[in-house]
Amino acid sequence: MTAINPVTDLSREGDVAVITINNPPVNALGLLVREGLIAALDVAGKDAAVRAILLICAGRTFIAGADISEFGKPPSGPGFMETQNAFDAAQKPLVAAIHGTALGGGLETAMCCHYRVAVASAKFGQPEVNLGLIPGAGGTQRLPRLAGVPKALEMVATGKPIGAADALANGLIDEIVPGDLKAGAMDFIARLLASGKGIRRTRDLNDKVTGDFAAIFSFAKGQNMRGFEAPLDAINAVEAATKLPFDEGIAFEQKLFLARMMSAQSAALRYLFFAERKVAKIPDVPDDTPTLEIKKVGIIGAGTMGGGIAMNFATAGIPVTILEMKQEALDHGLGVVKKNYDSSAAKGRFTAEEAQKRFSLLTGTLKMEDLGDCDLIIEAVFERMDIKKDVFAKLDKIAKPGAIMASNTSFLNIDEIAAVTSRPDHVLGLHFFSPANVMKLLEIVRGAKTSKPVVATAMKLAKTIGKVGVLVGVAYGFVGNRMLAARSVEADKMVMEGAFPWDIDKVLVKFGFPMGGFAMWDLAGLDLGWVKEESHGETLRDLLNEAGRKGQKTGGGYYDYDAARKPTPSPVTEKLLTDLWAKKGISPRAIPEQEILERSLYPMINEGAKILEEGKASRASDIDIVWLYGYGFPAWRGGPMFYADSIGLDTVLAGVRKYGWTPSALLEKLVAEKKKFADL
Ligand SMILES: NC(=O)c1ccc[n+]([C@@H]2O[C@H](COP(=O)([O-])OP(=O)(O)OC[C@H]3O[C@@H](n4cnc5c(N)ncnc54)[C@H](O)[C@@H]3O)[C@@H](O)[C@H]2O)c1
Repeated sequence: MTAINPVTDLSREGDVAVITINNPPVNALGLLVREGLIAALDVAGKDAAVRAILLICAGRTFIAGADISEFGKPPSGPGFMETQNAFDAAQKPLVAAIHGTALGGGLETAMCCHYRVAVASAKFGQPEVNLGLIPGAGGTQRLPRLAGVPKALEMVATGKPIGAADALANGLIDEIVPGDLKAGAMDFIARLLASGKGIRRTRDLNDKVTGDFAAIFSFAKGQNMRGFEAPLDAINAVEAATKLPFDEGIAFEQKLFLARMMSAQSAALRYLFFAERKVAKIPDVPDDTPTLEIKKVGIIGAGTMGGGIAMNFATAGIPVTILEMKQEALDHGLGVVKKNYDSSAAKGRFTAEEAQKRFSLLTGTLKMEDLGDCDLIIEAVFERMDIKKDVFAKLDKIAKPGAIMASNTSFLNIDEIAAVTSRPDHVLGLHFFSPANVMKLLEIVRGAKTSKPVVATAMKLAKTIGKVGVLVGVAYGFVGNRMLAARSVEADKMVMEGAFPWDIDKVLVKFGFPMGGFAMWDLAGLDLGWVKEESHGETLRDLLNEAGRKGQKTGGGYYDYDAARKPTPSPVTEKLLTDLWAKKGISPRAIPEQEILERSLYPMINEGAKILEEGKASRASDIDIVWLYGYGFPAWRGGPMFYADSIGLDTVLAGVRKYGWTPSALLEKLVAEKKKFADL
């Protein structure tokens, strides 16, 4: 065995040269790996005793992708181009043996080999679009040549990986190795050499890219890309593979790749990639903080949220006991969960047995004592402080020592809730988002007395149940809802100046949100937090509630809904609003789009700055993660704080002053110092 460099070994086994990449943790295709590959191919090429070359990786995966820390930095040493050229120059059969995940540059390297074998659990993908990029090392030209145009399009445009069986069926790999990967690959090579089949460069395989693909490309280009630019470029690059000779196709891909690399969208998406990794780091809670074991969970309230929250744990294999006040409510709540699991199984997301297994982990009860053996209890009852206090005081008496007691409250003060218990250090907020079994965000609300192990346990638990946990401090609405509330106040004002709800929503949708704020109210229910006795018919929301229009659940709210829940502007809402304007003597004005946009986004950003100022979020990028996973902020804009940095904080501050809001002191300070949120 010769060490070519610290991450590349070369050995000869009989007439096969074996190149082993060992660059933990994921064998990223960094500079040393590229140098090692080029050098090893050269040595093996010149060794007269070598008849074939095997590329295999040590550790848990094949080359899992590019080294993302190199992105945005000036290129150094041999690039992807030179690496693929070295593969294409090889004069001996090259076989890649794949385990783990061959993604991005990893799959591109594998496709530069002449043959590919893999273990059955291997995954293959070109996920570059997720970072606003396209494959940049020949992926768009080689993938369709191996897997065919439709499969290649699916992979490059969605970024989703495929499994080994799919890869084999489409020709991306040549064989699935049943047992040991290396032994299987050596056996494949022996058969290959015996068969007399020699080198088979992917670049020379033109069968699958020859023909009329017009309909396929026009369909692919017609898909809704939700504002993301990269998928269209990826499709165009694959189309080039069907129209241009290989080298010209590569040059075309390279041009698009470089433009993508310089694009604002890619900068935003790469920023979010790192933001998501940073969010798990809490400045004063070190990684080695002890955590508590969560083997059994209790949930109080089987309503909209309780049922969804329970599903997360059952899905992760953790048994859950759900407490309700009445049998009827319990049956209803469990029934909704069962229906959800069954319908997912019917859609093929998992088997009917799996659905049954998950459901069987849920136990309903009407007695709080049954939560006595739970390690974590999450309260999801009505949003009223008196009720929550009552629940926590009772829970304190029955929960076992060391149990964590959490509230799913949307707005209420966790410290006030914790104060009714004898163990405020074990109380925190676990703020799930609706639908709780689907939305990836979990705001973890740290009370004044919440202990560090409890915080660390919650952060770890978020991962266990497939959520992104963001640590936030106690404040009205925490991070997400607090900023949303700032936006809603301004939206309601615009409605009273002459904008229809859909005029405002339209601007947000155009900006890239999946839906506007009023459509969101319709989804959540207009009666959320609305008290009939306190309603004076002074606002549109009052009037809609009084008219029984409480949102989608009543068939209409701000909008009317058809059977497929498609919203249309409601003439009833329009009449209620125009009458309200008349009653209040308002002469409505058409509010320009730009003003709507500024009055929607700047209050959020200003509030976000206040949150940072008060230390209620660890960093600006945490706020962006909240908005990405909790409210569908367009990822390609990087989140509200990144967006603010990108348009300039001076612009935002000028807007805040123009509309007469109180600017955050932090925002003023950053502008004075010519800094950005990213500099904090
Ligand atoms: N709905 C949302 O979009 C959403 C999102 C995030 C957080 N939340 C919060 O989650 C909590 C629950 O909201 P929801 O929408 O699920 O409400 P919901 O009205 O659908 O469900 C509440 C359930 O709690 C039960 N309940 C009330 N008091 C109880 C008690 N003492 N013991 C046992 N069960 C009791 C009720 O019978 C009801 O089934 C609230 O604090 C809310 O602010 C809601």
